[in-house]
Amino acid sequence: MTERNIDWKACVALGSVVTTIFTMYKLYKQDKKIPEAVMGVEQLIGNTPLVKIPSLSKHTNSEIFAKLELANPAGSAKDRVALNIILTAERKGLLIRGEPGWVFEGTSGSTGISIAMICNALGYRAHISLPDDTSLEKLALLESLGAVVNPVKPASIVDPDQYVNAAKKACNDMITKNGINAIFADQFENEANWRVHYETTGPEIYTQMNGEIDGFIAGCGTGGTITGVARYLKEKRGLNDCHVVLGDPQGSGFYHRINHGVMYDSVEKEGTRRRHQVDTIVEGVGLNRITANFAHGETRIDEAIRVSDEQAIKMAKYLSVNDGLFVGSSTAINSVVAVKLAKQLQLQGIENPRIVIIACDSGSRHLSKFWKIAKDIDREISLTEVMQD
Ligand SMILES: Cc1ncc(COP(=O)(O)O)c(C=O)c1O
Repeated sequence: MTERNIDWKACVALGSVVTTIFTMYKLYKQDKKIPEAVMGVEQLIGNTPLVKIPSLSKHTNSEIFAKLELANPAGSAKDRVALNIILTAERKGLLIRGEPGWVFEGTSGSTGISIAMICNALGYRAHISLPDDTSLEKLALLESLGAVVNPVKPASIVDPDQYVNAAKKACNDMITKNGINAIFADQFENEANWRVHYETTGPEIYTQMNGEIDGFIAGCGTGGTITGVARYLKEKRGLNDCHVVLGDPQGSGFYHRINHGVMYDSVEKEGTRRRHQVDTIVEGVGLNRITANFAHGETRIDEAIRVSDEQAIKMAKYLSVNDGLFVGSSTAINSVVAVKLAKQLQLQGIENPRIVIIACDSGSRHLSKFWKIAKDIDREISLTEVMQD
């Protein structure tokens, strides 16, 4: 009887110890899910979420994920690049924290917005040169962030007044005339660009996919994202086990460059080019020149797939209605490519291919142009209709 009592008490004691350990473990796990407080906005950059795109995955018998770079504090993958360019300049002593300093860039896109925000966070000033027909929402955003905005006439890269060249000149003037610390960010040529994707975006994707990734898709503007991530993934998975595809808009030269070795598009024919550097409604991707960031990792890109503006517009609406993903134009391009790549990998014998696309920015950056058309697409549109050429 006494022995039985002792056993019973021991059981209760053991039970309560186990319950306490289990409860503490659950609390600890929950705690791990809540991000810790950080000491400044710049520390929120990176570690972006990865989300499955259920509609595309279901229709293609695959698993298609979007790396939500749009969740960075200034709204795009360019936050990583802008921060790394500034940190690299600080390491070289070109900018000194606590002292006046300027960051100059020539950009009509997201990089200016990221630079402006990070400069504010770190105590610097931003000076952004851009074409004078840049969308009003981007201008308003840059001005709201307190950047000095320098609009110039649209011109070819060989023209000294082209906006990238204008930014470089303005930076040199600031250093020589005023003796103030200043850098030209130079995102196309600056290797801090691809390196940050190699050091952060690539490893994050690989970890979030538990190393099981058969395909990776990104667009190419400077080339930093696709070459940096591809380099990392190919090192981890081997050259042939993760197919890297460049999603290219109409009018861009990368499609022929990757597939046929020549940087050319038919709009290069004399008299056929319209205003834009690349004749597409899509912003941020597509180019007709080789940049340092593209060149260093070109051999790690297996293929380029071209997507028409019409397909991109329809895909953007499809993702919004079916998955609640409100994305920008380059993400829509990558999603069209993902559907094609899923089929291609299946034909090569991979049963349920696992594919990651970059979701560089949100639809809210594209309201006045791309989404002005996309919003009117029928919400009942099918994936087959989206994919029609
Ligand atoms: C919306 C958007 N998507 C994709 C890209 C391409 O990224 P990367 O410059 O790394 O090639 C850019 C570049 O500016 C962009 O603005």
